[in-house]
Amino acid sequence: HMSDGECISLEEWEAKKYVESFPFIMVKAVVLGAAGGIGQPLSLLLKTNPAITALGLFDIVNTPGVAADLSHIDTPAVVVGRLPPNDGLKEVLKGADIVVIPAGVPRKPGVPRDDLFKVNGGIVKDLATGIATTCPKAFVLVISNPVNSTVPIVAEVFKKHGVYDPKRIFGVTTLDVVRASTFVAEIIGKPSAAPDIVVPVVGGHSGVTIVPLLSQSSHPLPSDLASDKFDALVKRIQFGGDEVVKAKDGAGSATLSMAYAGFEFANKIIRAINGEKGIVAPSFVALKADAAGAAELTKELGAELEFFSSNVELGPEGVVKIHPLGKITSAETELVKAAIPELQTNIKTGVTYCLEKL
Ligand code: NAI
Repeated sequence: HMSDGECISLEEWEAKKYVESFPFIMVKAVVLGAAGGIGQPLSLLLKTNPAITALGLFDIVNTPGVAADLSHIDTPAVVVGRLPPNDGLKEVLKGADIVVIPAGVPRKPGVPRDDLFKVNGGIVKDLATGIATTCPKAFVLVISNPVNSTVPIVAEVFKKHGVYDPKRIFGVTTLDVVRASTFVAEIIGKPSAAPDIVVPVVGGHSGVTIVPLLSQSSHPLPSDLASDKFDALVKRIQFGGDEVVKAKDGAGSATLSMAYAGFEFANKIIRAINGEKGIVAPSFVALKADAAGAAELTKELGAELEFFSSNVELGPEGVVKIHPLGKITSAETELVKAAIPELQTNIKTGVTYCLEKL
């Protein structure tokens, strides 16, 4: 951007370029469960985003060490790690714009996500209380499973504290979207296309509630794809997490791919906060977040649901629009139908838990 005759040193230019390429509203991001399998790589990735100027890390163990380690990386974010004593949670959350929650126990082989609820429900409730009372305006990104039930918990806690804004609470389903891109690229034989492949994945985040809309893939599947191959692809996207749980053989579930996916979604939120228009991503949100979008979606679903994952347009205040499913095939309609009762049960589990505990 040098005008005629203007001459600046390389150093000045670097400094200028830095500021010009990030005319950002700088954000404070916080990770709750930051010492865990997802928490550590996710915190590392967030530390690399120059739009993040403060990074708060909270866990019940090891956060001072993780924070000290990350603080040596030469990116702008100032890193602080705290443990529970002395209001560590509140200290970390103060002034947060984005709070990502990967706290809780992961799956072991043979354990469905719903079985995690007993432990993770309580963890998410306590952390949500901390957010509601410290930084109620923050965007909350819930990773802790079962997402279909933990997102309703956050919503109920915020309602209880009178600070509920359905536009700002998100269940992170991005890993399903990332897996869909990767697996579709494998089928069409173009691994290098994977980052550009966009497949909407709707419904929720567990087993049959994960509904890939392959007919809307940006890169169409081969028209002669055998139906058993198609069914296997759908199953693989729905149960891809099991491949990792099995391979890790008792040592947990997806952590690195989840950290990548969580970072992808957090970055979209940060871009939206900064006023970038037209950012769309699937996320598990309260349909209350967009009444008009919800009405259309409810008509398509033929059922009332409080929460659903659909393509969501993001803006500086959170959810701008919940997109309808649009044109889907009869096979996809069947998948959606199968997801609905399970989703209703999962959502009720979260809400009922809060009615009893709050
Ligand atoms: P992990 O066990 O490696 O890490 C969890 C961390 O949470 C630990 O460091 C633990 O100390 C911490 N923690 C426990 N109670 C806490 C509390 N009250 N406050 C703060 N931190 C607390 O587990 P991992 O593999 O990182 O998974 C975390 C969660 O993410 C699990 O619930 C897992 O099921 C879920 N997950 C979600 C995915 C998604 O697509 N949404 C994908 C993969 C995992």
